[in-house]
Amino acid sequence: MVEHTWNRRGVAVYGDGGTAVALLLWAIVLCPALVSGQVAQPTLGQEGQDAPWVPTPQELVDTMLEMAAVTPGDLLIDLGSGDGRLVVSAAQRGARAIGVELDPSLVALSQRTAAEAGVSGTTEFVTTDLFDFDLSPASVITMFLLPELTLRLRPTLFNLDVGTRIVSNTWDMRGTDADPDAPGWDPDQTIVLDPCPGFCTAHMWTVPAKVAGTWRVDDEGSELHLEQRFQVVTGHLRAGGQAREIANGRLSGPVLTFDVAGTTYRAEVDGTTMTGVARDVGRDNNATSDWQAVRMR
Ligand SMILES: C[S@@+](CC[C@H](N)C(=O)[O-])C[C@H]1O[C@@H](n2cnc3c(N)ncnc32)[C@H](O)[C@@H]1O
Repeated sequence: MVEHTWNRRGVAVYGDGGTAVALLLWAIVLCPALVSGQVAQPTLGQEGQDAPWVPTPQELVDTMLEMAAVTPGDLLIDLGSGDGRLVVSAAQRGARAIGVELDPSLVALSQRTAAEAGVSGTTEFVTTDLFDFDLSPASVITMFLLPELTLRLRPTLFNLDVGTRIVSNTWDMRGTDADPDAPGWDPDQTIVLDPCPGFCTAHMWTVPAKVAGTWRVDDEGSELHLEQRFQVVTGHLRAGGQAREIANGRLSGPVLTFDVAGTTYRAEVDGTTMTGVARDVGRDNNATSDWQAVRMR
């Protein structure tokens, strides 16, 4: 007679070499979908660790990927990837894409969908907590999470590589835990689909360069003093003993633009240098000159 015990999942485990028998029983009794080659279908609104499963409508998926201008050069990570639709759609645009999802049945469904779409080779689904996953290799992050999760992720997202695009279904990154209406990281772009397919708003951010500090402007012997709040830049340009406030200071990824006393400055920031063009608006036929600044502190 073959001895058997019941393990913690209620699966019969049979004596020596019984593992295969146990697995077969589990497959037949508890997981008929696997035997028939099917994967369990999720239920709309089913509970997840920190957010329930609600899928992004395909029209909004396409809009989100277009906003991020996803190309074959990208690595996209979808945080809480559900049934894998953002990952599969990104891969269909030629990108490599990773879905991070805690629910193993959603991961299995995603893998099946990716295989059917012929993109298994460029997609990966990882069954883990999104807060434990290294996001640093991503050039694009997508997400459809709850507001408090989106806010909790904000410091991590803000410190990803300059130029990384982040796109969120519905929730933005304004506010604080204490005050959800407080100013925060405004989206660089928002699109609202009309007619609305259920969820219709997508927000996009590009991770800005970090410019707060003092910069020496080479040719003019002047100093640029900058403060930064997300992509908004304030401060002044000190030249010849005079400090002039900068206006309209803004970062889009590595590109800094601002105005000082009728001159528009544009520069690409690369670590400790910024290089670009200054344009005297309305003077000398909008004369332009090259300018460069080096970080002092
Ligand atoms: C609103 S659904 C979005 C699904 C998909 N991204 C989409 O847009 O169609 C949120 C997903 O996040 C998953 N999730 C919730 N908390 C998570 C966590 N801490 N780590 C990984 N996945 C999580 C849920 O299981 C669910 O599938």
